[in-house]
Amino acid sequence: MTTAASASVDALFYQPADAFFSEQSSIGLTFDDVSLATLYSELLPRDANLETTLADSLALSIPIISADMDTVTESRMAIAMALSGGLGLIHYNMPERQQLSEVSRVKNHVHGLIQEPIKVSPEQSIGDVLALIEEKNFSFSTFPVVDEKGKLLGLLPGHVLKHRYASKKVHDAMTPRSGIQTIRQSELGNDPIATADRFFNEHMGIHKLLVVDEDDLLRGLFTLSDVERITQEHRAQLKPARDAHFRLVCGAAVSATRNSTGELDKERIGAHVAALVERRVDVVAISTAHGHSRGVGETVRFLREAFPELPIIAGNVTSGAGVEYLAECGANAIKVGQGPGSICTTRVVAGVGIPQLTALYVASKAAAKKGVRVIADGGITKSGDIVKALTLGHAVICGGLLAGCPEAPGQIMEINGKLYKQYRGMGSHAAMVAGSAARYGHSSKDATRKVASEGIEAVKEVSAPIDSVLTQLVGGIQSGMGYLGAGNLAALREKARYVRVSPAGQRESGTHDVIEIKATGSHPEV
Ligand code: XMP
Repeated sequence: MTTAASASVDALFYQPADAFFSEQSSIGLTFDDVSLATLYSELLPRDANLETTLADSLALSIPIISADMDTVTESRMAIAMALSGGLGLIHYNMPERQQLSEVSRVKNHVHGLIQEPIKVSPEQSIGDVLALIEEKNFSFSTFPVVDEKGKLLGLLPGHVLKHRYASKKVHDAMTPRSGIQTIRQSELGNDPIATADRFFNEHMGIHKLLVVDEDDLLRGLFTLSDVERITQEHRAQLKPARDAHFRLVCGAAVSATRNSTGELDKERIGAHVAALVERRVDVVAISTAHGHSRGVGETVRFLREAFPELPIIAGNVTSGAGVEYLAECGANAIKVGQGPGSICTTRVVAGVGIPQLTALYVASKAAAKKGVRVIADGGITKSGDIVKALTLGHAVICGGLLAGCPEAPGQIMEINGKLYKQYRGMGSHAAMVAGSAARYGHSSKDATRKVASEGIEAVKEVSAPIDSVLTQLVGGIQSGMGYLGAGNLAALREKARYVRVSPAGQRESGTHDVIEIKATGSHPEV
């Protein structure tokens, strides 16, 4: 039992946010400067609930968002993030039309459905198909047969793909349309995997389920092995983040573009967001280096009026006044972070920015008053940082931590026998030329001249796929919540008690005085 005396000693050393940060008001603190005190707990880490909401209509199963950066989030990353319960913000360093189709890809993604299966035509020979398999190194050997419009004509089974039949035509070897089981796209329902799973249960020996539309055009293909793998994973893993229509959630970044006279280009921004909304985007992010500025405020206000129901993320700020300003303009969630990012040079170049934990505390006070969410953006290198960020905010944005995953855009490159992926700041010269100049207050024309860049071009070592990285991070967050006895994120914010860590304490926090032979734990690159 805790005595009053020991409770009061604890309270003296391990303070709640208000007392702790007020006492440290003359110094900027970041993640490694503090540690969280443990509290009595009856909670098993795996029971800690990580659900969060960024707006009334936008709930996530885990509070992790992939950054709207051109080396982090396109549709493949956004799909992987949402499947694991988080959110991807698709960057805007690409033509608007391409960003729209990236969003559509996420919103139309049906997990397990191969939306563009490899098809063959009835006039091809078996020899042609065998050559195709060899050339492309396909590991499967059953192919839907379609006409030139994509209408389903039959299925070419693997057992006829033999060299002895090489001269025969596909239409002579295929199982005809009348002999194959299909399902209408409209019958897939809210949970297509469960529908496909039921189908395979009811049709013993069938390993492929073809999906067609009302005109019998082929719309996709489920395979028994994919469905079995996914059903098993579902039981063990994180719940995907979906909208009310069971589609994966997806966000997109929007630029506060100016026209030739330097005025906010409302027409263009309005048309862009209208098109995103038509594609069912769940949230837009007005991401800039300086969110407490007229251009960002005007953009948010304009979008709030034009799209009253659309969740808006805006930023970045590091002050209470900045949070209030964007909240009053109509943002639902405010991005906090100026200069903490792994590729950021804002603090070096401009001498501006606030260490992230202090910024989060200050922002969280204003956010609580205004009823908006705080998103901690940048500087996160390990799951412990996320736990600390979530004591003050509602979600985190990660760039560098996810940029080495195979789902991030970009080619893998080999340097001295190790594999890397490119990771660059949106304020780096190359990224600004590619489109992100407005984010740093420059026009795209300026970016082609010499403007001071606020980010660098770098590489990240190739890491495990997103689901493994997120599983590690989630495990770490739940572990932190277990130590604090916090069953959900609201309890974590309420219960957190902080202590400053000395430089010697920081050294003690990492592994030390051993020779590491195998890295484990919170580091996702394992
Ligand atoms: P991490 O630390 O996760 O940070 O790699 C990602 C966040 O950094 C911000 N960002 C930048 N900040 N110059 C900056 O000052 C840049 O070039 C730059 N690019 C990205 C952004 O908030 C991102 O989410």
